[in-house]
Amino acid sequence: MSGKDPNSITITVEGSNRSASLPVLSGTIGPSVVDIRKLYNQLGMFTYDPGYGGTAACESKITYIDGDAGILLYRGYPIEQLAEQSTFLETAHLLLNGELPNEMQKHEFEMGVMRHTMVHEQLRQFYNGFRRDAHPMALMCGVAGALSAFYHDSLDINDPESRRINAFRLIAKMPTIAAWAHKYNIGQPFMYPRNDLDYAANFLYMFHAVPAETYHSNPVLARAMDLILILHADHEQNASTSTVRLAGSTGANPFACIAAGIASLWGPAHGGANEAVLKMLGEIGHKDNIPDFIAKVKDKHSHARLMGFGHRVYKNYDPRAKIMQRTCHEVLAELGIKDDPLLDLAVELEHIALHDPYFVERKLYPNVDFYSGIILKAMGFPTSMFTAIFAVARTVGWVSQWREMIEDPEVRIGRPRQLYTGPTQRDYVPIDRR
Ligand code: SDX
Repeated sequence: MSGKDPNSITITVEGSNRSASLPVLSGTIGPSVVDIRKLYNQLGMFTYDPGYGGTAACESKITYIDGDAGILLYRGYPIEQLAEQSTFLETAHLLLNGELPNEMQKHEFEMGVMRHTMVHEQLRQFYNGFRRDAHPMALMCGVAGALSAFYHDSLDINDPESRRINAFRLIAKMPTIAAWAHKYNIGQPFMYPRNDLDYAANFLYMFHAVPAETYHSNPVLARAMDLILILHADHEQNASTSTVRLAGSTGANPFACIAAGIASLWGPAHGGANEAVLKMLGEIGHKDNIPDFIAKVKDKHSHARLMGFGHRVYKNYDPRAKIMQRTCHEVLAELGIKDDPLLDLAVELEHIALHDPYFVERKLYPNVDFYSGIILKAMGFPTSMFTAIFAVARTVGWVSQWREMIEDPEVRIGRPRQLYTGPTQRDYVPIDRR
């Protein structure tokens, strides 16, 4: 490859006179991209990138990550500043609409969300079709997908008003759906949303309150939950967001696309990692067992991984993990938990890993999932709910990215190609000759 013209590169096939000239496109920050859309027409070749580690699947203005520097920006604002000074719904407005709201816009957006926190009363029946011990993510996949059966009035994805109201519906109803999944699991009555509480406090209320007792909202825990939601709101073209975009590119309705995103997030390599971290810490049990566990992780045959560590993009400390660790100490202090054995074990494990050449050489650092589970467990959430909470937050990012794609005049159905290594053409063999 040579790049005389900074706005294009030429690819020449060794030993032939065939070459392709491809445009180079640059963004506002971050790596430029080689536009390969005409490569097949010019050279009869595809590019090959399983896992899309080196492929820009779209243009986006929403979130920027610099993995080497450990930078995360939502519409240009550093995650550290939003975590410190913003709220989840204000951040949701920013991700969806591109700008921080003024006072009036903020109030209108919050009212728009709070007006949609209730779900159709018949949607409650969907829970009864599941076993009581169904994983909350199974419940969320099913119920979120079922939303499209209740909102026939707004399934026209090309209508801006439908897109606007569906954004409110999805952001507003996800906490209700998630909290009810937990209530269903433990056999307690569903708690209806309370619009006198803010978004995070309302979620904690629906999750923890019971009809038999007066509920007192804890502002410190509500603030911690709001912060956790901010940190998980969006993250560029991660696996679940790419799932939502691919589903959306076919014209599927937003509820079906979000259900697909929930399913993708569930995997332990992605959003399911927070639950896997707690399981891992439980298996390690004590600091004395850390060296044996680390040895197992290094043994390729064991397939064991240090969950909550490593990232496809971050080759430095995930900025969200730093904020999460700090919040961990604040929440435990608020709850009067002096020394949480899980946190002590996690801090020791992180210390050992960050000084072990195996992890240093592979640039494996704690990611957002390493500490989040410890906070959520301290706040009274069962581990099975951790990824469901991630899904509540990431619904804002999914809806923002989905809407950006739908409003892109160049949007086309996503349809990757392949490198075929299967059998060449051959004739059918009747069974008596096989
Ligand atoms: C999230 O994409 C996003 O933005 C996701 C996310 C978001 O906000 O949407 O940030 C949320 O999903 C965070 C990641 C949560 N997952 C985990 O914590 C699970 C544990 N982490 C890994 O499975 C892994 O690090 C991934 C899946 C996150 C990233 O995998 P990659 O980029 O495909 O890296 P890889 O599998 O190619 O690994 C490269 C090397 C390998 O060793 P070698 O073959 O080179 O010897 O690093 C090793 C891997 O074995 N490795 C690990 C490891 N992660 C990578 N070894 C031990 N423990 C780990 N966690």
